[in-house]
Amino acid sequence: MTDKNWFHDPVLKKEILDFLVFPTVETFFDGTLGLGGHAESILEHVPNLKHYVACDLDEHHIEVARKRLSPWKEKLKIHHANFSEIASLLEAVEDRGPLAILLDLGLCSAHVDQADRGFSFQEDGPLHFCFDTSAKFTAEIWISEVSRVDLTRIFRRYGELSNAPQIARKIVEVRAEKPITTTQELRAIVESVTHPQNRRKALTLAFQAIRIFINQELEVLEKALVGGMNMLQPGDRMGIISYHSLEDRIVKQSFALNAKPVTEESEFSLHEEVQPPSVKLLRKKPFEASAQEVAENPRSRSAKLRIIEKL
Ligand SMILES: C[S@@+](CC[C@H](N)C(=O)[O-])C[C@H]1O[C@@H](n2cnc3c(N)ncnc32)[C@H](O)[C@@H]1O
Repeated sequence: MTDKNWFHDPVLKKEILDFLVFPTVETFFDGTLGLGGHAESILEHVPNLKHYVACDLDEHHIEVARKRLSPWKEKLKIHHANFSEIASLLEAVEDRGPLAILLDLGLCSAHVDQADRGFSFQEDGPLHFCFDTSAKFTAEIWISEVSRVDLTRIFRRYGELSNAPQIARKIVEVRAEKPITTTQELRAIVESVTHPQNRRKALTLAFQAIRIFINQELEVLEKALVGGMNMLQPGDRMGIISYHSLEDRIVKQSFALNAKPVTEESEFSLHEEVQPPSVKLLRKKPFEASAQEVAENPRSRSAKLRIIEKL
């Protein structure tokens, strides 16, 4: 895997530096290292940082990032791991000090350009769809054995596709004749049951649905939110960049819940006890990319960054 042509400014770089990074931060946890774009800008701008702890499921990305970040190798601890393991990855760091956490969810543009990863309906490739380069359970295996009802559920739930039952039925029909093994075969199936005007959107959503399911994206996000929240000490911050409403809803609700006081009925008295909020939202509305950033990097168009600070 070569690198340079994939390097562009990371999404919402300025907002991350201005609001997620705070003056006394000593440890940064980057759960989605990718090609190291955010890592490079943070390491450049925060010379006092003691530890940069990062993980990614994609070993090729880790390899590129490790090279890119070699000037800071003494501070780096990079793991081939799921960010849902945040608590154990951070617990292993001695002398952690003030902490900031970043998750920049989903896939990188580099993933879309690599046909062999099967994330894109634009390219022909195997039905892989896994962030984890060592994963064995691929979309090809899933599509060969999943029931029609479960297919419909996944396309509805993770793609919000109105013609989910038709896509599911067609998949079952086609695979009875011949195994479905490539992205272009899947594309032809989705197109065959979608009005030409809606094809691009339906393809994006169908591929998104499979990706979310195969990588259990919403489940690992929920786990990471709980794990991350537990690691925060007063003054520490956590920021999450999401790219679609399903994941943004989870982040928004989880942050809002922790930013509200909790009323508990006491067993021993008639009074209710009010527990104060455990975090504050840095801003009620999410940070979004400027028109200039969107023009330079179209992927930033749908990005929403939410940040909390532990109280
Ligand atoms: C949007 S990219 C991150 C880009 C990175 N911030 C940069 O500036 O280069 C998302 C990365 O997260 C990784 N990823 C997705 N889900 C993950 C998970 N559950 N655990 C660890 N890494 C994950 C993907 O492999 C991808 O490299």
